[in-house]
Amino acid sequence: MRDSISILISLALIGAALGAATVGIAGFRGGLARKPPIEIFADMNRQAKLRPQRPDDFFANGVSSQLPPPGTVARSRPLETVDGAVYAFEDSPVNTGKITGTTNFVEINPLPVTPQLLARGHDRFDIYCSPCHGRLGDGNGITKKIGDMPAVANLHDERIVVMTDGEIFNTITHGKNTMGAYGPLVPVPDRWAIVAYVRTLQLSWLGTTNELTAEQQAALK
Ligand code: HEC
Repeated sequence: MRDSISILISLALIGAALGAATVGIAGFRGGLARKPPIEIFADMNRQAKLRPQRPDDFFANGVSSQLPPPGTVARSRPLETVDGAVYAFEDSPVNTGKITGTTNFVEINPLPVTPQLLARGHDRFDIYCSPCHGRLGDGNGITKKIGDMPAVANLHDERIVVMTDGEIFNTITHGKNTMGAYGPLVPVPDRWAIVAYVRTLQLSWLGTTNELTAEQQAALK
């Protein structure tokens, strides 16, 4: 019993001495010293790597930055918009739905709204949005009946009718509250096509028979 206690005490003393020696030689972490610190583990302070645009003998041509191999194809093509501008960068209205450098949404769809774009939007809306929002956009999709989907927005609500195109684009991209993000599934041009089609749905909902020609009104009756 006595022996084991004295062994424990000597172990503790040796440990304390070792600790004191380590701190004495290596210093406290973060402490100031004139001499360079002893480095037990280099962590990531120094690493074998190429610095861009520097001479380096790793590659045969002696340069650290290499050109893409011939025939490389860009992953995304710049998009051309209504005003003919080409946006190649991430932070541009066509990619974010926002005015560059701000958090303000763009008012108007930057893609030219053509019959082809609307047809594409119709197609994509029916696939990606109608399960919840319904094919009419009134919030009565199939998930309401069988999926217990909580309060789906009615896209004909005045709040959404007066919303900017950019904000609807942003909602498709990132989702909103209980609605998930569709950015990962729906490419940028298709998102704008859907926005244009949502506008078509809203317009048709807001229309009155007074806007029809006399012939059309007669045909209705
Ligand atoms: C899985 C169901 C589901 C799908 C699919 C879906 N939405 Fe939604 N959406 C919702 C729900 C739920 C809300 C209400 C979110 C809230 O505010 O709680 C909503 C809200 C919205 C709003 C209103 C956002 C706001 O600011 O209040 C818009 C606009 C919208 N969705 C557009 C779309 C479009 C366009 C698509 C197709 C790309 C789509 N949604 C697909 C469930 C869905």
